Amino acid sequence: MLKERLIAEDKIQQIISTLAEEIDADLEGRDPVFICILKGAVFFFTALTQRLHHGVVVDFIQASSYGATTESSGTVTLVKDVTVDIAGKDVYIVEDIVDTGLTLADVVALLRARHPRTVQVVALLSKPSRRKVDVALDFVGIEIEDRFVVGFGLDFAERFRNLPEIWEYVPGPEDA
Ligand code: IMP
Repeated sequence: MLKERLIAEDKIQQIISTLAEEIDADLEGRDPVFICILKGAVFFFTALTQRLHHGVVVDFIQASSYGATTESSGTVTLVKDVTVDIAGKDVYIVEDIVDTGLTLADVVALLRARHPRTVQVVALLSKPSRRKVDVALDFVGIEIEDRFVVGFGLDFAERFRNLPEIWEYVPGPEDA
């Protein structure tokens, strides 16, 4: 069940605007490719890239997800790869939430092997207390405690991605 609204719609928009300003300043002199990690980051990705004042290349990558649980399996498989050549480019990986960091660490390693000039990570949410691997986040919207959240792209068993705000979700008997 949706337990508590943690981040209101206008607060999310404010966080994204601040991130866009920071990233805009960082984009000077770069040859950027913004890579969205599907599916969860897609709402954040469109809102963020539309606020940038630089023209950027966009692409999409999809790693395996949790399925109908709230715990990471720890093994990440690639479902969909990017289609642009990132060699020599400045890559910005855009992620919805960094929990254990396992997904992101795998995606970063995979993309680095293709010889981009730089790789940076942009995350809307981070749960630092849950981290299992040390992965550098260059731009972070907001840190949250160890709670399972849905909305603004984040799901539980593929539901609730469309909510414009972020809620804590607690699985109930209806999810069994
Ligand atoms: P990690 O590999 O444990 O860092 O998990 C990364 C992925 O798990 C994210 O891209 C999300 O898709 C998903 N995830 C982690 N925490 C949550 C959450 O609280 N709600 C919904 N999805 C989550």
